[in-house]
Amino acid sequence: MDTPGEIIARRPRPSVQEVYDTDPFPAPDVLRAESPPQGQSLEDVGVERYFSPEWHDREVEKIWRKCWQLACRVKEVAAVGDQLVYEIVDDSLLVVRTAEGDAPGAIRAYVNSCLHRGTLLRSEAGNARQIRCPFHGWTWSLDGRLKVLPGEWDFPQVDKAKFCLPEAQVGVWGGFVFVNFDAECEPFESYLENLPEHFAAFRLEDRYKAAHVAKIMPCNWKLGMEAFIEAYHVPIAHPQVVTYYGDSNTQYDIWPGVRHVSRMLSVQGVASPSLKGVAEQTTVDDLRRDAPFYAGRPIEVGPGETARHKLAERAREKIGRSSGTDMSQLSDAESLDLIEYLMFPNMVPWGGQALPIVYRFRPNGNDPDSHIMEIMFLFAKAPDGSHPPPAAMNLLGPDQPWADAPELGSAAMVADQDTDNLRRIQKGLKNTRKPGVTFARYQESRLRHFHATLDDYLAK
Ligand code: FES
Ligand SMILES: [Fe+2]
Repeated sequence: MDTPGEIIARRPRPSVQEVYDTDPFPAPDVLRAESPPQGQSLEDVGVERYFSPEWHDREVEKIWRKCWQLACRVKEVAAVGDQLVYEIVDDSLLVVRTAEGDAPGAIRAYVNSCLHRGTLLRSEAGNARQIRCPFHGWTWSLDGRLKVLPGEWDFPQVDKAKFCLPEAQVGVWGGFVFVNFDAECEPFESYLENLPEHFAAFRLEDRYKAAHVAKIMPCNWKLGMEAFIEAYHVPIAHPQVVTYYGDSNTQYDIWPGVRHVSRMLSVQGVASPSLKGVAEQTTVDDLRRDAPFYAGRPIEVGPGETARHKLAERAREKIGRSSGTDMSQLSDAESLDLIEYLMFPNMVPWGGQALPIVYRFRPNGNDPDSHIMEIMFLFAKAPDGSHPPPAAMNLLGPDQPWADAPELGSAAMVADQDTDNLRRIQKGLKNTRKPGVTFARYQESRLRHFHATLDDYLAK
């Protein structure tokens, strides 16, 4: 098995770290560290996990009912009485703001099922000072105590004090609310591992959700997520980006002892190492063609200048203007690059300052052959701190392309290219005579790491 040093030596160059070495605005320490995978098994990963109903059922028990998972933004339950429905497979939680501030218990998550005859207490978000079942009107206070039982004389067996709504655990990080159904679960703070340290400068909690688009995808949730945590497929599946996106030199980080978090870093404003002699001006022009973010007055790359530094300059200017903060010293890396983490099992948050994206991948009910993929954009607030309310989820129909969501900009084209492939992967895997998929040692190391953690949870 190769050592991390050998992996680094063999990877196409310039490496991400070599690009960072020449950046005039140096990347922060958290991005200058590198941690290639060590000691991962190179064995194939069995295909049944992508379509077997039994496998899906095990994931429900061992993953979705045991792991911390992203429910919503804190701002979506900002006012006392705000109630939001979070669904995962057949489970439904009511995420409720019960008090102002961020003390523990100010946001709670109740099992969304009436203790009388099981009716869903709510099917969509809203605000109310109580939680009232629409069927016979049993009503709980925001802190989960049963306070109104219509026809109480007829329920001699009901002790109201014992009919509190069952709760899931709640954790808050980065402006997100997380939930966990398991009362015995690992504490949220330790589950997050090194994520808070890595995101300290990115401050996702200060951003607002400007776009939220969801789509039923034609494949298992794990296949969907896998396509977004490696760059190996990029030059073939997204050929339009090779003149401005470093693909095969992407850096993948798996930290020793860290189970829930992994990372990849891809440089932008630098052509793929597979291309030679791309003019710096072509890199600028092609990125501007695909990413409206860099639009505006022309960008000319003069002698001795590089596309990366000119693009970073434009990005700093734009980020500074939109947020009203001084971004004149922001690193080229945080201005331009893809800085992408995974938080097990299904949340993929981006760092940096240009455009933090968050992906989430959830099963689509009990169908192992499809899933719900979501793309969220977290924008900086206006200079005066104001911002629009968090974007509601725009759910595209199964046959609608991502391009039907104009709020996604150029991300839609990329996601549509991936969707076409994912449909083929789901069908192809059911048809294969080969029992497992064969992951690359380095470029697909995050996939291996994810499956190793998944297997650990399933074996418990
Ligand atoms: S089912 Fe909820 S009050 Fe009857
Ligand atoms: Fe892709």
